[in-house]
Amino acid sequence: RVLVLDFGSQYAQLIARRVREAHVYCEIVRHDITAARLKELAPAGIILSGGPSSVYAENAPQCDPELFKLGIPVLGICYGMQLACQALGGEVQNASSREYGRAHCEVTDPTDLFDGVQTQTEVWMSHGDQVAAIAEDWEPLAKTSTCPFAAVRHKKLPVFGLQFHPEVTHTVEGKQVLTNFLQKVCKTSGLWRLADFADETIRQVRERVGDDRVICGLSGGVDSAVVAALLARAIGTQLSCILVDNGLLRKDEERAIVDEFTNHFKADLHVVKAEDLFLEQLAGVVDPQEKRRRIGKTFIDCFKAEADKIEGAKYLAQGTLYPDVIESGAAKDGPADTIKLHHNVGGLPEELGFELVEPLRDLFKDEVRQLGLQLDLPEEIVWRHPFPGPGLAVRCLGEVTKEKLAVLREADAIVVGEIKAAGLYRATSQAFAVLLPVQSVGVMGDSRTYDNTVAVRCVNTDDFMTADWSHLPHDLLARISTRIINEVKGVNRVVYDISSKPPATIEWE
Ligand code: XMP
Repeated sequence: RVLVLDFGSQYAQLIARRVREAHVYCEIVRHDITAARLKELAPAGIILSGGPSSVYAENAPQCDPELFKLGIPVLGICYGMQLACQALGGEVQNASSREYGRAHCEVTDPTDLFDGVQTQTEVWMSHGDQVAAIAEDWEPLAKTSTCPFAAVRHKKLPVFGLQFHPEVTHTVEGKQVLTNFLQKVCKTSGLWRLADFADETIRQVRERVGDDRVICGLSGGVDSAVVAALLARAIGTQLSCILVDNGLLRKDEERAIVDEFTNHFKADLHVVKAEDLFLEQLAGVVDPQEKRRRIGKTFIDCFKAEADKIEGAKYLAQGTLYPDVIESGAAKDGPADTIKLHHNVGGLPEELGFELVEPLRDLFKDEVRQLGLQLDLPEEIVWRHPFPGPGLAVRCLGEVTKEKLAVLREADAIVVGEIKAAGLYRATSQAFAVLLPVQSVGVMGDSRTYDNTVAVRCVNTDDFMTADWSHLPHDLLARISTRIINEVKGVNRVVYDISSKPPATIEWE
């Protein structure tokens, strides 16, 4: 196992994912973890992440300097390199010009980290500070025209530093550099595999659950589907799934979930038809937060009422992922004070009285998808775009009514259908329609119309924290627009949302 010390970098999770891609298990821990605790955990290697601070600033996050002396290999990236150099006698300065983006790097020492890497290679820089002078004990390994110490090695300790970011794909040979660190320096075997993870998790679930019954909520999303698939393998008929049809799902979605479920699992499925109840609760409500609150509460009530009918249920399975665990500060030894970033509407509170089973707690989203494929889930489920817990209600701006939902559902089906037909579904991260509370004048045939507007929202993102609008081909957008206006009654105008996140969000409410 390798540990990443998180200094507040936007890239800490990406580093951990890259290490796992190299088949080495990796976890993120807090930056001030003590050397004594690290010694106890005995990782094969330690990676110090980048971070937004200056090492010489007051309150700059530090690491325990004793960790460099444990004999465990250390790789400092960007801020992490500056910390390592500072701790072991170097000098960090504000670089004369901040360096962001691609840089041309010359490798001067092609051993260890740079074994097999081209002498001239492209790297990705993102820093204001850099190491200006290294102490006697260090030696340079690579440089760029503005950064004399783009990579360094300590002469006596197994400590390395990279000013550039090997974890981002713009660093062309970053993967090789990281793999060299993991294999040649840390001597890891690179044998960690998701298949073994699945087997081990199935074994643990069986052992923990024994003969008891487990309830799992199905949402139509990939996480809950993978949880259900894992549990179905582990405990078969002791699994009961609940799907709450809140009337806010996409077109034909409930049927698709039920079909997929019956095709793939033998477990017990409870569908709660609650459309009327949700619509009643939403009647007259315009405020987005209030909509979310009411949907969340009604969902919990429905779920609980159904769960109470299932005899002998002791456990509740949830699709909590590693980023949720990290960002909620719940990871053992993990970073404590990260902001809670996730929307928890559509989730269940702990007070339901079940013990939680969270078999995906250690996985990243892309690993969950891989696991889904290994568990024979169909590609449609595995690659499905995320869908918010409050469903179409937050895409139907203003008051939610059955009629408006019907219009939105048709428009949304056209957006997704055309993107799939163009083969671009996997190239976009999320694509949907939003029904705006805006009427405008149009002309159809010889008559004037005064009808609704649909906004099309398509984004590309890795983590949904930041996102760019998708640059879809114009002819595809034209087809979407024409079809919506011709086929969806009540819509006479389609607009394309070209806002990035931030400052806009992905959803409109
Ligand atoms: P925003 O709109 O904040 O969305 O940029 C980021 C991601 O979160 C999803 N989202 C939600 N998911 N409950 C959820 O389960 C919610 O209340 C909720 N609001 C937004 C959104 O679809 C996007 O993927």
